[in-house]
This record gives sequence, C-alpha cells and structure tokens, in this order.
Amino acid sequence: MREGEHAGQRWGAATQASEWDTRYRERDEAMWSGRPNGRLVSEVADLPPGRALDVGCGEGADAIWLARRGWKVTAIDISEVAVSRAREAGGRAGAAVEWVCGDAVQTPFPAGAFDVLSMQYPALPKAAGDDAVRGLLDTVRPGGLLLAVYHDLDDEHREHMKSEGFDPADYVGADDLARLLGDDFTVELHVVEPRIDPPPDTPHVADIVLRARRR
Ligand SMILES: C[S@@+](CC[C@H](N)C(=O)[O-])C[C@H]1O[C@@H](n2cnc3c(N)ncnc32)[C@H](O)[C@@H]1O
Repeated sequence: MREGEHAGQRWGAATQASEWDTRYRERDEAMWSGRPNGRLVSEVADLPPGRALDVGCGEGADAIWLARRGWKVTAIDISEVAVSRAREAGGRAGAAVEWVCGDAVQTPFPAGAFDVLSMQYPALPKAAGDDAVRGLLDTVRPGGLLLAVYHDLDDEHREHMKSEGFDPADYVGADDLARLLGDDFTVELHVVEPRIDPPPDTPHVADIVLRARRR
C-alpha cells in the first residue's frame, strides 16, 4: 500500500480504474495483440453459440471474436480507456457486443444467464471478497462453462511484477476460483499448460487453466 492510502482506497473501484486507465494510456497504440486468446479459441470454437460474459475484456479481441461467431456477448472492463478502444474495434469489425465499463465484481449480472463465463488473465483484487467473486461464478447457467486462464508465473516474474507495484498475490487466482466453486460445478480441467498461440515476444508462455462446468 502506498503511504497515506487506506486498504479500502487502494483496492476501491475508482483507484483500480484509474490505475488501469493509466497503464492503457501509457501506450498510444493497443496494449494487447488484437487477437483472441488462444485458449479461448481452442475451448470455444466448437461450441454452439450462446451467451457469453467476458470479464476484464481489455481491448475487446475475445468479445469481438465471439460475437463474430454468433455469440451474444457482454464484455466488461473497469478501464474506460480499454472499453473505448474495445468499442471502436468492435465497430470496425462490425461486431455487436454489449460493452460495459465497470467493476465486474460489483456489477449485478443475472444469475444463471451465461453459457460461457470467460476470464482471460483477469486481475480482480482479492479485496473484493469471496461473495463478490461467487456472484460472478453464479452467472454461469446450468450446463454452462467457466473458462478462467491465468499466467503461470515463476518467482522471477512475480518479483518483477512486484517491483512494478503489482503483486500477483493480491489478485484472485485460479486456486481461489476453484475454492469458491459450489458443489454444482464440476472441475474438468485445472492444469498448467503451454500457452496456446502466445503473442510474439511475450514472457508469459505457460497458462494456468481452470475449466469448470455447472451441473
Ligand atoms: C491482464 S488484462 C487482460 C485483458 C484481456 N482479457 C486480454 O486477455 O487481453 C486485465 C484486465 O482486467 C481489467 N480489470 C481489472 N480489474 C477489473 C475489475 N474489477 N472489473 C473489470 N475489469 C477489471 C483491467 O482493466 C484489464 O483490462
């Protein structure tokens, strides 16, 4: 925590939004590759289109990919800058996506509404609390899928991120999600695997993948 800040402020939605906006604004060009995440593509490409919720959608590549394949997509990100870039990219691609700028753990999405809850490298603070995260998991409809993907970080990466003010231990990870899944979810996959189709030059080449189906 920075000097003079209270825990509530440090992890409040306004501070998180402003920190992410700053990160996005540091680049005039897009921060991410503009291509959908490889794991999402490989897991979802063969599914019949339904409703998807993309949490922490960033600049929108996953949501746009889904929408162009016939999915009805709601995509949320806390950063105004990211959502405005996503909206523009969606417009250019002719993809109809419901873009939401807001805190995913405070936004009341309907329970049981989504066939796929996609969380690709999300960065949700643990300070949001377990109930808030459970609320997100509860948006998966019976028969639907949670697909959560995280970077598998070695100690060097962790230290590097900490030196940049971003301690991965402060954020909800795959283990946390797995712990919070109710008895009505079956974990189908919880593994570390090579990242599928990583962007060039990324140091993040292994993923923690959590795929769970709601009964
Ligand atoms: C590492 S980026 C991943 C972006 C995108 N999913 C991708 O794979 O390119 C994490 C994203 O989560 C967003 N984010 C962080 N906290 C959030 C929250 N509480 N609610 C919604 N989005 C959040 C950030 O603004 C950022 O765009």
